[in-house]
Amino acid sequence: MANQLEIRNLYASIEGGEQILKGVNLVVPRGQVHAIMGPNGAGKSTLGKIIAGDPSYTIEKGEILVDGENIMEMEPDERARKGLFLAFQYPVEVPGVTNANFLRLALQARKGEEVSVMEFYNKLQKALEVLEWDESILTRYLNDGFSGGEKKRNEILQLMVLEPTYAILDETDSGLDIDALKVVAKGVNAMRSPNFAALIITHYQRLLNYIIPDVVHVMVDGRIVTSGGPELALKLEAEGYEWVKELVVTGS
Ligand SMILES: Nc1ncnc2c1ncn2[C@@H]1O[C@H](COP(=O)(O)OP(=O)(O)OP(=O)(O)O)[C@@H](O)[C@H]1O
Ligand SMILES: [Mg+2]
Repeated sequence: MANQLEIRNLYASIEGGEQILKGVNLVVPRGQVHAIMGPNGAGKSTLGKIIAGDPSYTIEKGEILVDGENIMEMEPDERARKGLFLAFQYPVEVPGVTNANFLRLALQARKGEEVSVMEFYNKLQKALEVLEWDESILTRYLNDGFSGGEKKRNEILQLMVLEPTYAILDETDSGLDIDALKVVAKGVNAMRSPNFAALIITHYQRLLNYIIPDVVHVMVDGRIVTSGGPELALKLEAEGYEWVKELVVTGS
């Protein structure tokens, strides 16, 4: 059994519309952190949403394999039980459900069994400590009135409590101050282990100063056009995306 998240020759379109993904190939083994960068509209968020099982896209071709198992026919909650986690680009507000209740339900859904109050509380304590966060956040309603930074921090709290095997983080970076970016980095770095992998979608090289990725991929027009080490992110920061767009035209 291959311990990795694998995207194989994935073609997808908006239901009844334009083709967005045009043959994505990607392997993220456990134990590694990969970043996806690329210009606006390249299809990065679409890829993340499709991996999580968003039904608003039509898969035309290709496969998504988690530890060698095809997950294409699975509902989002089933994918979560297989160890996938997607932090949404725009987290939803759920008034009436406290943060702690939401987390406990999500953890039970993830594990497919009851989680004892003690076990849950211990996980929470550990995560709050890493994130340098106050317990008062737990009794607030999920995302209701949270600032951008609080939402982000909460997303990482979810990540740390749910302990997925494969986390997909779509970081717009927009409106996030440097402290919020550092929180994201702290959480991801605390999760790093031979049994954890992350795919981080980001525009800014800055984040990758704190989370050093094993591999950086560049997506342009629905495909991964080039991959490399952390130095690739530095090159993109310095030179922009024009040179990678050329790679699409020449097909090299
Ligand atoms: N549900 C949808 N309905 C209509 N168009 C969509 C939908 N989802 C994605 N698209 C279009 O698909 C293209 C890729 O969008 P996507 O959000 O995946 O890009 P991105 O690489 O994440 O961009 P950004 O860097 O701006 O976040 C865009 O042209 C977008 O408008
Ligand atoms: Mg996006």
